[in-house]
Amino acid sequence: MNIANDHNPIEYFQKWFHEVDKAHPEDEANAMLLSNKGLDGFPKSRIVLLKRFTWEGFIFFTNYNSEKGKAIAKDNNVSVLFNWIKSKREVLISGKAEKLPENLSEGYFESRPERSKLSAWVSNQSEVITSRKILEDRLKAYEVQFQNKTIPKPAYWGGYIIKPSQIEFIEHDPLVGFKRITKYMLRPDYSWSKNIKYCQD
Ligand SMILES: Cc1cc2nc3c(=O)[nH]c(=O)nc-3n(C[C@H](O)[C@H](O)[C@H](O)COP(=O)(O)O)c2cc1C
Repeated sequence: MNIANDHNPIEYFQKWFHEVDKAHPEDEANAMLLSNKGLDGFPKSRIVLLKRFTWEGFIFFTNYNSEKGKAIAKDNNVSVLFNWIKSKREVLISGKAEKLPENLSEGYFESRPERSKLSAWVSNQSEVITSRKILEDRLKAYEVQFQNKTIPKPAYWGGYIIKPSQIEFIEHDPLVGFKRITKYMLRPDYSWSKNIKYCQD
């Protein structure tokens, strides 16, 4: 085991993210599989898009009334997987999801295209809707309501920041059937420990 303290995993992530984005845009570097304990007690996963990352964590936006939102309110332990197949790289993160401050969610909402803003009003994610027409009618109603007006952020829409406690960088080497795992773990004093191991794929 090789312990070093001199690296920050967010820098490592930034490097990988930009390399993947440049070399293999089809890997959709910002698509991440978010998993947590579902409302029925079983693990549940879905794709969400990484919109920002900072020294503190990884940010995505959603509907707080969605199933994931309700589940996170009960238990905010989450896992995130970036699976960059063409690049033969993965990043696996464990952490806690916390709601972003309202002003940051508002700032991001403002930057979204009008269509996306309206769609945030149209439905509660995960809500069962019996026909497409219901959504189309709601969309039309909101188009009229907000015509020539600034579309405000719905109170139930916003971001989460996933504050990591553990980040694994996994690099596959199919030629020899091995993977290299660089694992960072957050210490109680907020420094990161790092160890590298190799194992069979
Ligand atoms: C490519 C792709 C990107 C997505 N990005 C988001 C996103 O950023 N935020 C989000 O809430 N849902 C996103 N979704 C929809 C989710 O996968 C999911 O269906 C939705 O959030 C409801 O999940 P839940 O019922 O587990 O809450 C995306 C779906 C796809 C296919």
